Parts: sequence; structure tokens; C-alpha cells
Amino acid sequence: MEDLSLHMLDIAENSVDAGADKIDIAITDSSGEDLFVLSISDNGRGMDAETVEKIADPFFTTKSVRSFGLGIPLLKQAAEECNGSFSIASSPGKGTCTKATFQRSHIDRKPLGNLGVSMMVLISGHPEIDFSLTYVRDAFCYRFDSAALKDTLDGVPINLPEVLKLIRDDINEGIQGTY
Ligand SMILES: Nc1ncnc2c1ncn2[C@@H]1O[C@H](COP(=O)(O)OP(=O)(O)OP(=O)(O)O)[C@@H](O)[C@H]1O
Ligand SMILES: [Mg+2]
Repeated sequence: MEDLSLHMLDIAENSVDAGADKIDIAITDSSGEDLFVLSISDNGRGMDAETVEKIADPFFTTKSVRSFGLGIPLLKQAAEECNGSFSIASSPGKGTCTKATFQRSHIDRKPLGNLGVSMMVLISGHPEIDFSLTYVRDAFCYRFDSAALKDTLDGVPINLPEVLKLIRDDINEGIQGTY
């Protein structure tokens, strides 16, 4: 995977598969601490401790169709190659939080990529799920919340192509701090 937005998409799809109806994505990009953090929390079915143990093994999957069990090992590897760390906290029936940290300035640290497109893909595929994004870059903070947007849309479907494009652009411009 070429960029961290694609890893985020992949990990958030795990949350979808786990039956979550609320998925919170947090990205912290700190030049002061030389740290880049990606975390994805969900209220899905969670995992017991035994499953969490096995999850970082390549090819561990509980899915039968078109799954290779590589989503988590690939993100873990990407983080560890950049002096980072990887952790999963999960509780059966409550949810899961997956977190990867990277040395921000590491030569191999993948770029963020197109976060707006990844969020758009998630929302378009799963309009019923509430997604939030908190993006922090040093002292700057941007937030997106699909539940709040749904309220203002007042019945207009969030997955209309025109709305999805607005979401994509809002996120991509918002995280740059260009408005
Ligand atoms: N958020 C989550 N909630 C509950 N179970 C999870 C979660 N994330 C991962 N898992 C469990 O860990 C397994 C491995 O996840 P991983 O993303 O590595 O592979 P996969 O999703 O099965 O396949 P792939 O990502 O290659 O399509 C999943 O099959 C699932 O059982
Ligand atoms: Mg997966």
C-alpha cells in the first residue's frame, strides 16, 4: 500500500466487517515530537485476547471470501519500519482500537495520500455508519463528523455523488487549513 490513507481505509473496513455503526479516525502529525499517529476506533463486536494475539500474524483471517488476512500485518510492518509501534486494544462486545505510530521524518514513512478520497470511499460504501475524523497537525485541528453532516443535510442522502464530492473536497482543503 502506497500511502497511509489507504491503510486507514483498509483498517476501517475491518471495523465495518465487525459490525460497527460508529468509526472514529484520528490522525496526529506532530513535527515537534517527530511523530505521526493513525488510530481507528470502532464500536464493533471486538475480539477476545486470544484473537488479538494472533491478529498480527500474516494470513490470520476470520473471513472466508476474498480476504488474505494482510491488512493488519501490513500496517504493523509499515509502522515498525519507521521506528514506530503498533497496538490493538479490543474488548468483546465493546469495540476495537487499532493504533499505528511512525517516526514522522523517517525516510520510509509513507505519505498521508488522499485522505478525502479514502473518507469518501468509506462513506459512499457505508452511508449508514457514523464516521468521524479528527486531524491534528501541530497546533492546527480539523474535524469532520458524518453524523453532524447528516443532520444538516436534512434527509438528503449522504451518499449522493454531489455530497460525496463536497465531503472529499472539504476534508482535503480542511486538513490543509486553506479556508
Ligand atoms: N476492528 C476489528 N474488530 C473485530 N475484529 C477485527 C478487527 N480488525 C481485525 N479483526 C480480526 O482480525 C482479522 C485479521 O484482520 P486483517 O485486516 O489483518 O485481515 P482480514 O480483514 O481478515 O483480511 P484483509 O484485510 O486482507 O481483507 C480479521 O479477519 C478479523 O477477524
Ligand atoms: Mg482487513
